[in-house]
Amino acid sequence: MSNENPSSDVVVHTAAATQVPERFENPGLPVHKARMGDTDPAAAKRSERQVVALFGLSVLGTVGFLVAYFAVPPGETVESIRLSNLLLGLGLFVGMFGIGAAAVHWAKSLMSDHEATEDRHPQRSDATTRAAALDVLAEGAADSGIGRRGLLKGAVLSAVVLAPLTIAVPLIGQVGGDWNVSKFRHTIWEPGRRLARDPSGTPIKASDVTIGSVFHVIPEGLRDEEHWIEEKAKAVVLMVRLDPAVLKESPERAGWSYEGIVAYSKICTHVGCPVALYEQQTHHLLCPCHQSTFDIADGARVVFGPAKRALPQLPITVNDEGYLIAQDDFDEPIGPSYWERLK
Ligand code: FES
Repeated sequence: MSNENPSSDVVVHTAAATQVPERFENPGLPVHKARMGDTDPAAAKRSERQVVALFGLSVLGTVGFLVAYFAVPPGETVESIRLSNLLLGLGLFVGMFGIGAAAVHWAKSLMSDHEATEDRHPQRSDATTRAAALDVLAEGAADSGIGRRGLLKGAVLSAVVLAPLTIAVPLIGQVGGDWNVSKFRHTIWEPGRRLARDPSGTPIKASDVTIGSVFHVIPEGLRDEEHWIEEKAKAVVLMVRLDPAVLKESPERAGWSYEGIVAYSKICTHVGCPVALYEQQTHHLLCPCHQSTFDIADGARVVFGPAKRALPQLPITVNDEGYLIAQDDFDEPIGPSYWERLK
């Protein structure tokens, strides 16, 4: 007796069954078709030119990346940062794509097109086999034809030598930069600064925040700061109103929330992604990067994932007009924990 699953080819046999699964003939390899380049030297030359053009495209992409890096640096506006990132990304893409596409086209159209089969063998090969493998590698190098195709050699060398500049130049640009991590210890939150909606900057009244609602918050007047984008990157907050009955507050943080409204840094304490996926039923806040999960009802402690410490809490209250205001800055550095160790 056997149980057959109609949705698959799996056949399950019981102890009483002796039925053998149906076998079929090995269909073998399909008939080999010669490529145009194998029989027509002009086609082979055309393929070579295409490979050269793709490597040339990579060179252009790398050069474009370098020009964008120096000529279009990110400015103070979001638009200029977007433009800079767009140009850098395009240059990087074209630089890497050119090399990848050229390598694939080279292998498919210029390297020899024989089909090879190999029987299974023990994993550890003997000395003779390993020596043979080296011979195969050497043969492959010869097979690529790089020794006798001067133009191709120049193109591949140019593309491969220039491409690492897309990584090296930005890194070199950071040498001598401001690595003083103490600037991460403080944000522009200060006593009395109103909480405002991101990105409009409109101040928020406590009465606007209903139970279960989530607000993305920035300090009021953020855009008046000299380096407001950097300040925003540090000061962003996620604010939630919970039923006060579910809120667990430690004695030292009593009074840091207002009628169930709590505010926490939006910068993940793992490696700094914005933590903004709120699950209303569980009060969990999820970081989309590596799934660190924080319990907003319990001091934003870590309940899952690689983050090692709770999200810093912004102590808040309301002013005479009912607007939510900060009582002070965060009481600890925002962001990844390693900032604490680099004081
Ligand atoms: S950055 Fe948030 S979990 Fe890694």
